[in-house]
Amino acid sequence: MKATSMKALVLGLATACLLFAAAHAKPKDQVGTGIITTTSELNATAAMDKLMEIVTARGFAVAVRVNHAAAAATVDMDLRPTETLIFGNPVAGTPLMQEQQSIALDLPLKLAVWQDADNKTIIAYNDPEFLASRHGITENSMRISAQADFLKNVTAEAAS
Ligand SMILES: *[C@@H]1O[C@H](CO)[C@@H](O)[C@H](O)[C@H]1NC(C)=O
Ligand SMILES: *[C@@H]1O[C@H](CO)[C@@H](O)[C@H](O)[C@H]1NC(C)=O
Ligand SMILES: *[C@@H]1O[C@H](CO)[C@@H](O)[C@H](O)[C@H]1NC(C)=O
Repeated sequence: MKATSMKALVLGLATACLLFAAAHAKPKDQVGTGIITTTSELNATAAMDKLMEIVTARGFAVAVRVNHAAAAATVDMDLRPTETLIFGNPVAGTPLMQEQQSIALDLPLKLAVWQDADNKTIIAYNDPEFLASRHGITENSMRISAQADFLKNVTAEAAS
């Protein structure tokens, strides 16, 4: 084996070890940056049913509900219950995109629900303050905090 490819191999292995260590060093409850999580006593399906009901009752339109576990099953892969809900309301979203169109990448709003390794139901969403900072939204801070409030309320209602 040439010295350069040996070096590449060693470097690759070292990187893989680092990535592995990083993945495993992550505390269980810390899923990432700018992500807010809560737990629910309902199972994942029931929690998502309830979230859908709540956001619809509040005048939001559901764009899509994605059942990742069902999709995994169609290709013979195993995934604990995991779903994503994408929903929005032009009254809430338009002013944000008028200010910074790049926030279209993170709109409509999303809620994710999954059953974790301990069978706990986790509800997660992007922290609106994080998205505001990501996209440089500064003129709509009232709308951003209302959105944060709204998501907090909605997920609290789906806790049981
Ligand atoms: C989830 O909870 C609902 C309501 O209690 C129940 O009807 C349903 O069978 C449960 N689903 C699973 C997969 O346990
Ligand atoms: C989680 O629930 C499944 C069935 O839904 C069960 O087989 C498994 O033992 C449970 N695991 C834990 C850690 O409770
Ligand atoms: C969230 O809930 C609080 C307390 O119930 C309420 O005062 C507030 O108006 C709600 N905000 C939104 C945006 O739903």
